[in-house]
Amino acid sequence: YVIGVDLGTSAVKILLMNQDGEVCQEVSKSYPLIQEKSGYSEQNPEEWVGKTIEGLTEMVKNFNGDIQDIEGLSFSGQMHGLVLLDEDHKVLRNAILWNDTRTTVQCRKIEDIVGKERLLDITKNPALEGFTLPKILWVKEHEPTIYGKASVFLLPKDYLRYRLTGHLHSEFSDAAGTLLLDVGEKKWSKEICNLLGIDISLCPPLVASHEQTGTLKSEVADKTGLSGNVKVFAGGADNACGAIGSGILSEGKTLCSIGTSGVVLSYEQRNDLDFGGKVHYFNHGEENAFYTMGVTLAAGYSLSWFKDVFAKEIDFDELLNGIDEVPIGANGLIFTPYIAGERTPHADSVIRGSFIGMDASHERKDFVRAVLEGITFSLNESIEIFRENGKKIDNVISIGGGAKNKEWLQMQADIFNVEIMKLASEQGPGMGAAMLAAYGCGWFSSLKECADKFVQVSETFTPKEENVEAYRKLFKLYQDVYLSTKTLNE
Ligand code: XUL
Repeated sequence: YVIGVDLGTSAVKILLMNQDGEVCQEVSKSYPLIQEKSGYSEQNPEEWVGKTIEGLTEMVKNFNGDIQDIEGLSFSGQMHGLVLLDEDHKVLRNAILWNDTRTTVQCRKIEDIVGKERLLDITKNPALEGFTLPKILWVKEHEPTIYGKASVFLLPKDYLRYRLTGHLHSEFSDAAGTLLLDVGEKKWSKEICNLLGIDISLCPPLVASHEQTGTLKSEVADKTGLSGNVKVFAGGADNACGAIGSGILSEGKTLCSIGTSGVVLSYEQRNDLDFGGKVHYFNHGEENAFYTMGVTLAAGYSLSWFKDVFAKEIDFDELLNGIDEVPIGANGLIFTPYIAGERTPHADSVIRGSFIGMDASHERKDFVRAVLEGITFSLNESIEIFRENGKKIDNVISIGGGAKNKEWLQMQADIFNVEIMKLASEQGPGMGAAMLAAYGCGWFSSLKECADKFVQVSETFTPKEENVEAYRKLFKLYQDVYLSTKTLNE
C-alpha cells in the first residue's frame, strides 16, 4: 500500500491505495482560513500537521491488513504559500497562502528591479500576487523583525513533510511557483535573489518529486500507528499531482479540470518554449518534464453563483436538466465568466462578467446553457494559446464538475475541437501523490507505467463537425465581449 496526502486549501485529503490502483480508504480533515483583512488569506501550519496526523491515525485504525505493508507516503500541496522558519526551524508567522492578494506593490517592484523580460527568461512566469516571492518581499518590508529571524522558507506541503520526517527539502514542481526558481535549469536563481536582496540560503535544498526524503519520525510513527519504516517521498504541487493522477505524462496530453476555478494544463517535454507569460509554465512532477497551464478564475464558481442567485432551491443536476434541449448559442445569449476578474488570457482583476443578448422569451435553461458555454469558451482561450504556440493537442482528459454532465462533456469536445475523455475513477491530486510514492517505492519503472495501471478512461466524447463550426463563430463573438466591456469598471 501507499498513502497520498493532498494538503489542500480547505482540507487535507488522505488516500490509501493498493498495488492495483484501488482506493482502499479515504479520509478528509478540514481546517479554517484566516482572513483578517480583505485580500488576506493565511493558515496556521500547525493545523496542517495536527489534522494530517489525526487523519493518518484514523486511517490506521480502520486498516485491516499488516501495517508493515504500508510502504510509502507522498504529498500533493496547495501551491505558492509562504512558511517562514527561524534557525531552530520553528514557524515564525502564519503561512500566507496562494489566494492572498496583498502583494500588488511587491509584484511591480519585482518587475521594476528584475525587469519583466528577464523575470520571464528565468522563471518563465510573470509576477502575480499569489506567487511566493512577492510574499517574501512583503514580510521583509512590513515585518522586518520576523524577516530578520528567518533562516529558511518552505512551501506548505514541504513544511508538512519536514514535520513528519525531520528533513528540510523542496522539490521542483512547487519551487516553480515561487518566482525564485530558474525553471529551465532547475536551480534557485542567484540573480533574482541578489537583485532583490534575498539571502539565497533562505531557499531550501531541491530534490525531484519521486525522490525519497527520509522515513517517518519515530514520534509520528508512534502517534499514528504507522511503521517508522514508511518511506517518505518529496511529492509535488497540486496541479502537477493532478496531472500525474490523470495520466498527463506525455506530449499531447492535456487536462481540463473544472472546480471553483478551471484549469487547462498541458504536458511539455521542452524547457525552452516561450509563451510570453500568457500561461503558467511550471516543472512537472515527472522528472525533467514541464507543464503549461491556463486558469479561468470563476469556472464552477460562475455556475454556483448563478444557482445561488437564481435557483437556490434546486440541486446542480436539476439546474442542468434540459440544457440539451437548448440549441448551441443558448438562443442568442452569451455569458462571460469574469465575475471575479480573470487570469488567462487577460490577467485582469478589474474586468467583470456579462450576459449579452437577453430576450423576453429566454428561460432559465437558456441562461444555464449560456453559463456553461461561457466557462468553456474561457477555457478554450487557454487551449488556443497552446495551439498558437505550436502545441498539438491529441485529446483532453476532463475532470471535476465539468465531467459530471454528458452535455457539458460534449460541449467541451465541440468547443475545444478535440476528443474529450472521462476517467473511470477520479481522485485528483491525492492520487498523483500516491502514484509518486508507488513509483518511488519501485512498484513501477516509470510514472507512465503506473498511470497505465492506475488511470482508466471510461468514456470518450468526439467533436461533431457542425457543432464545431457553430461554436467557432460564437467564440469570436465571445472574445469581442471582453474588448467591448473592458472599460466598464475602470
Ligand atoms: C496555481 C494556484 C492554485 C493553487 C491551489 O497557480 O494558484 O491552483 O495551487 O491549491
